[in-house]
Amino acid sequence: NAMFSWQRTAFHFQPERNWMNDPNGPLFYKGWYHLFYQYNPDSAIWGNITWGHAVSTDLIHWLYLPLAMVADQWYDANGVWSGSATLLPDGQIVMLYTGDTVDAVQVVCLAHPANLSDPLLIDWVKYSGNPVLTPPPGILTTDFRDPTTAWTGPDGKWRITIGSKVNTTGISFVYHTEDFKTYNMSKGVLHAVPGTGMWECIDFYPVVINGSKGVETSVNNPSVKHVLKASLDDTKVDHYALGTYFEENETWVPDNPALDVGIGLKYDYGRYYASKTFYDQNKERRILWGWINETDTESDDLAKGWASVQTIPRTVLFDNKTGTNLIQWPVEEIEELRLNNTDFSDVLVEAGTVVELDIGTATQLDILVEFEVEPLESSETVNSSVGCGGGAVDRGTFGPFGILVIADETLTELTPIYFNLANSTEGDVTTYFCADERRSSKAPDVFKQVYGSEVPVLDGEKHFARVLVDHSIVESFAQGGRTVITSRVYPTEAIYGAARLFLFNNATGLNVKATLKIWQLNSAFIHPFPLDQIQ
Ligand code: FRU
Repeated sequence: NAMFSWQRTAFHFQPERNWMNDPNGPLFYKGWYHLFYQYNPDSAIWGNITWGHAVSTDLIHWLYLPLAMVADQWYDANGVWSGSATLLPDGQIVMLYTGDTVDAVQVVCLAHPANLSDPLLIDWVKYSGNPVLTPPPGILTTDFRDPTTAWTGPDGKWRITIGSKVNTTGISFVYHTEDFKTYNMSKGVLHAVPGTGMWECIDFYPVVINGSKGVETSVNNPSVKHVLKASLDDTKVDHYALGTYFEENETWVPDNPALDVGIGLKYDYGRYYASKTFYDQNKERRILWGWINETDTESDDLAKGWASVQTIPRTVLFDNKTGTNLIQWPVEEIEELRLNNTDFSDVLVEAGTVVELDIGTATQLDILVEFEVEPLESSETVNSSVGCGGGAVDRGTFGPFGILVIADETLTELTPIYFNLANSTEGDVTTYFCADERRSSKAPDVFKQVYGSEVPVLDGEKHFARVLVDHSIVESFAQGGRTVITSRVYPTEAIYGAARLFLFNNATGLNVKATLKIWQLNSAFIHPFPLDQIQ
């Protein structure tokens, strides 16, 4: 179907056709990265959920494989829903997933690869004793899903956690197991936050406090903090918080109760959901996948024949400079796609102006941009515009300023990615990082909003960002990845050779000087694995 074909991405993972949602069971095995994903093989809208499967040696060039699991048992007849992989020390691979039973009860099921000597892990076997867990008493049968990767405790036994809710309190249960077949529920819950609703796709993992490497999921000692992430079903937002995991009573406590799970930080302030990390033992890093859902209508998705994209996998680290947040960064392998680059230094963008950056076509880009701010001597009163809320057209004394991506020559379509500075009454400056989708598309029935949040800017730092542009996806990372925003946009004019890149400065009280490094990115040419090459 050629309709909207220009919205297909060139280096983000998406199936050839039809519907995709959550990333599932990511792992590295015998030289291959494996990505499984919630997939409807029959339609571009959600339903008949199976596990799609793809492999890559570099997290960028993916090869589609046959479906790993389909709904073929009573305990998953309504769908093979989300789950996670655990690599056991003896080399086995355990996959725990959510089965939605023939009676629409959510249960945990066990599967393993049919043949561990196959690096592609093509065939999967469901355990004959499934399901291995059913909703505990007092929990609705529709509120028990998405088992995590398992970790070991001091007694050497495995633990997993599973999201749920009690009334409107989001919670996460802990279970102990030795064989992944029988389980004991831990007394109490790992954590609970009133008012946050159902917790989907829990993720729970350690991050090193001082260091640049990831650690295996079972690590717990004074050198780490633990991240607890929940995907909030009510708002479709992925919230995380940093805290401490107490093994003795199987609880997790946030560093800052004001930034607890579901009421504080988001992984991504844009269009992003149902994410999951895994520890990559190949490169000693923790990698985060997330699902970019659509913001058009179901009928548009049916017409174009596909829906959803996965983000570029990102490394996650604790930010030991701020001590309050994670840092996310596109995996280094994306840099293999860099083609020719164009550099600009100290481009002056005066208050109230737009400057075009002559780089030719601008649909597949990796942009590093840094702004130096030069306040004007003006007698005007200081007008702090309101964070991100007012969008890129809301002129304040100190912003917004940034770049316009997926824009056409006459600026009838554009997506501003920008900073906005606000002076507080105490005299310190709060910086916001935002993406304004309101003018991103002339297509009707597209949901367009302004996204963004505060971003910590430390003393002596400039304002800097990295932006990945891929036809209809913009992933933006401010201040090295402290605040991240993903946009799904639907250009109708700013497509192929008509897409352009600009700098803009809508501040009234400052000029900016922009320094940029911009690469055209090659396509990843994601395609089916040549199955005749499989012995
Ligand atoms: C999150 C989710 C999961 C569930 C899956 C079903 O998007 O609702 O909770 O397992 O998708 O496709």
